[in-house]
Amino acid sequence: MKNKNIIITGASQGIGETISEKFFNNYSNIFLISRNKDKLEKIKKRLSDKKDSTQTISYFVASVENYNDISNIVKTIISKFKHIDVLINNAGITDDNLIVKMKEKQWDQVINTNLKGTYNCCKAVSKYMIKQKSGKIINISSIIGEIGNKGQVNYAASKAGIVGLTKSLSKELGSRNINVNAINPGFIKTKMTENLDKDKNLDFLNKIPLNRFGTVEDVSNLAYFLASKDSDYITGQTINIDGGMVV
Ligand SMILES: NC(=O)c1ccc[n+]([C@@H]2O[C@H](COP(=O)([O-])OP(=O)(O)OC[C@H]3O[C@@H](n4cnc5c(N)ncnc54)[C@H](OP(=O)(O)O)[C@@H]3O)[C@@H](O)[C@H]2O)c1
Repeated sequence: MKNKNIIITGASQGIGETISEKFFNNYSNIFLISRNKDKLEKIKKRLSDKKDSTQTISYFVASVENYNDISNIVKTIISKFKHIDVLINNAGITDDNLIVKMKEKQWDQVINTNLKGTYNCCKAVSKYMIKQKSGKIINISSIIGEIGNKGQVNYAASKAGIVGLTKSLSKELGSRNINVNAINPGFIKTKMTENLDKDKNLDFLNKIPLNRFGTVEDVSNLAYFLASKDSDYITGQTINIDGGMVV
């Protein structure tokens, strides 16, 4: 992946940070997006020390909810680096509640970040990838979009929506040599899952045949494969990475 230009959203921590580092360690240029400047700056500093002389690490402070901001970021990258090889739509939030208690704001916020944010980023890069006649788009969905979960109608709907978006976009862009796939992580140890209570954790663990929670490295390895030439004939797919939880 040397000299490839990779955009990663939600890159300030967790799965997005590790995906960014995976590409960085393989000599790609990485362009990080999140809303938290301090965290992005820290990652940039940490990785800059290990940088290959030709490599770039840039970050952009923005919300994926805002199409204009995302579109301007993409234009900025294109004006300097000429092409975008990979987009990884990883930014995502949860805001759980049972439906009777769920506020409209909780529904809107989760849909706008997870689903509309993915749409915004896909839209912003698509025209350039179409011109290049190449590109890989990887959308981070969730097994919850497939199996549902109590208290997560907003999250599950947003993640199921990402799968539909992925399938449709793979059909739109396939003839231009652009692959669009989704990843469904199961239970991965990050800040997003650290606040679940012990009983719920045990409940999840009992349902995982491989008998362990996933790591951010498990997910970054799959994202890397889907971005590489090794997966050139895979498109429109949603791949579960969940230790066998959903079989
Ligand atoms: N952990 C799991 O078990 C699991 C399972 C299935 C799916 N996933 C999915 O994997 C992805 C990453 O999850 P994670 O566990 O790494 O979560 P995390 O640690 O909470 O990280 C979420 C990332 O998304 C960013 N983000 C949130 N809202 C954003 C916005 N509006 N614009 C730009 N960036 C935004 C956050 O950055 P800022 O706060 O700096 O903006 C942060 O970098 C999510 O899409 C999640 O749904 C996770």
